[in-house]
Formats: sequence, structure tokens, C-alpha cells
Amino acid sequence: MSNSIRQAGIIGTGSAVPGRVVTNADLEKIIDTTDEWIKSRSGISERRLVSEGEAASDLATTAAKAALASAGLSPEDIDLIIVATFTGDMPIPSTSCIVQNNIGASRAAAFDLQAGCSGFVYSLSVASSMVASGAYDKILVIGADVLSSMTNWDDRATCVLFGDGSGAAVVAPVGEGEGMLSFCLGADGSGGDLLTIKAGGSRLPPSMETVQNKQHYIEMSGREVFKFAVRIMGDAAMEALEKCGLSPADVDLFIPHQANIRIIEAAARRLELPEEKVFLNVQKYGNTSAASIPIAIDEAYRSGLLKKGDVVVVVGFGAGLTWAAATLKWVI
Ligand code: UT7
Repeated sequence: MSNSIRQAGIIGTGSAVPGRVVTNADLEKIIDTTDEWIKSRSGISERRLVSEGEAASDLATTAAKAALASAGLSPEDIDLIIVATFTGDMPIPSTSCIVQNNIGASRAAAFDLQAGCSGFVYSLSVASSMVASGAYDKILVIGADVLSSMTNWDDRATCVLFGDGSGAAVVAPVGEGEGMLSFCLGADGSGGDLLTIKAGGSRLPPSMETVQNKQHYIEMSGREVFKFAVRIMGDAAMEALEKCGLSPADVDLFIPHQANIRIIEAAARRLELPEEKVFLNVQKYGNTSAASIPIAIDEAYRSGLLKKGDVVVVVGFGAGLTWAAATLKWVI
């Protein structure tokens, strides 16, 4: 990717989270858990959850509009929309087509991409390649997930961890040596059983039985995913840096998938990054899956933490199993 003909970069960002705040104290009232357990095991204090009738495309549309405004573009400027999600509004049409219509991006092609929580960085790599090849100029890349719609609220091991949200970025050609410098994408399908939603697809179509058996909910082997995540976050970030000839010492800001503070701290230790170079907002939103990295990028940029010329490493992991890291030289 580093030898691309045209370099691509992020020229605008946006994000959206639902207005409803659910604190750990709120969860204490509905399941057998404590604020102390949730904070000490995950770092999460509260999360935002959708209200009835609110879906992934609603959040994605708001995030997309904010990203367009940030880039100074109008919807008609957009050539392609990619939405990373596994909790889209419905199986068809794709959430990207719904967003395309909502924002009036009448010229844009649109598709969804599913790579679990790694989906946004996977989508960035697709957008980067499409810009590099000359196929498209302005691409809207969105991560949007409403995990609360697939959460088993009787399963305390998972329901305390997730939140809903969306983040978006506009990808466009930038100067040589800027923007997205390298990617490291990976998958290990042999670990697919560790994080699943078993029903609702062609293997187990929806039925009374699948609903009664709670097979439309997320199931996770937390400890195993934890071990995988700690290893892969460091490895993938390191590989992305090496691919563009940089090292952790060159990093100005590390933006990891916001799943668990202990995983993030372990990855930061592995990369020998000081605390102030590690972006954290898991305490406010929990794990928002494909939305977590673009929400974090948007917050980091809007708060002034990300400055033109900064070297940024983003890294995600998730269901599949999948992982994805990228090195960026920030251009705005
Ligand atoms: O985007 C990718 C998604 N996945 C992840 O990032 C998840 C990765 N895994 C994790 O973050 C951690 O494994 C968890 C936060 C899910 C769990 O932390 P842990 O330190 O691995 O705890 P554990 O699953 O080993 O459970 C420890 C104890 C158990 O009790 P016993 O068996 O020791 O008596 C659980 O039953 O904690 C209990 N427990 C809870 N207690 C209070 C599990 N969930 C809760 C809870 N409140 N919500």
C-alpha cells in the first residue's frame, strides 16, 4: 500500500452516539453485577444505547453528515459509501444504501462490509486502494453498530460491555507520503466460535425455536477473546508500523479499538507507548464494535489531540476472528 500511485487520507471526520446514557448503576438494577466489577474488568463506566425505533442507519447518517461538513463537501461529491457493520438495519437493503438515500449522495455507489469490530479499518484499506487505483476520489467510510439489538440482557458476561454508535471519515487523495501509509489486515476463521451470533442467517434461519433458544444474541468466550486481543493488537500495530518503515517511537497517537481498558493497556505496554499517547474513551461508550475506532478518531481530532503531520496508529480486533491495523500521517 505504501507504493500506491495515489496516496489516500482522511480529510473529514464525524460521529454520532445515541442520547440515552446507561450507567453501570443502571445495569446493577437489572442484572447481577456491580459498578466495581465492570470498571475494574473493562474500564467501562457508561454506554449509549439506542431508543426504540432507532437503528444503525440513523446513527450512520448523522455521523456521515458531520464528516461531510468537516471535509467541506456536499453529498453529491461522494463517489462511494462503505458501511462497516454487522448490525445493519436489516439484511437487505444494505445500510450503506439507506445512508446513501438519507444523505442524498445520488452519485455514490454503496456497499456494506462485515469484519466484526475490525470492519472500519478493513473498510479504510478498501477505500485507500480504490483511491490509489484511481477508481474513486471521495469515499465515505462509516463504522456503525447497534450491538444492543443483539445483546442478551440476561447474560452479565456480555451485556455490560457493549454500546451503540457510529463514526465516519471522508477518504480522498492526499499528497505523497501523507495519509494512509500502511495496513496490516488478518483473519483466523478457526477462532470463529469464540464470538458468534448463531441464528438469523442461512445456517439457522429465524424460527420460534431459534428465538426461544436465544440464538440471535451475541455469545462470547470472553477470556479466550481477551488473550487473542492482547496478542494481536500489539502484533498488528507493529506490523503496520514496520511496513512503512516506522517504529512505535514515531507514534504521536495510538487509537485502539475501545473494547476493554486492560487489553488497551497491555497493547500499549507491548509497544512501549506512554499513557498520554494512547486514546481512551471506552469509559464513556463501552465497546461499539465497528464504530469504536472512527468515533475515537473523530473525538481525538475535534479535541485537538490529532494535529496535521501526526503519526497515528489505529488497530482493531473482533469476530471472525479478524484484526486490522493502519498507520496514518494525519493531513488535516
Ligand atoms: O470487540 C471484541 C469483543 N470482545 C472483547 O473485547 C472481550 C474480551 N474479553 C474481556 O474483555 C474480558 O474477558 C471480560 C471483561 C469479558 C471478562 O473479564 P475476565 O477477567 O476475563 O472475567 P471472567 O470472564 O474470567 O469472569 C470472572 C468472574 C466469573 O465468576 P467466577 O466464575 O470467577 O465465580 C464470572 O461469572 O466474573 C464473573 N462475571 C461477572 N461478575 C459481575 C462475569 N461477568 C460479570 C459481571 N458482573 N458483569
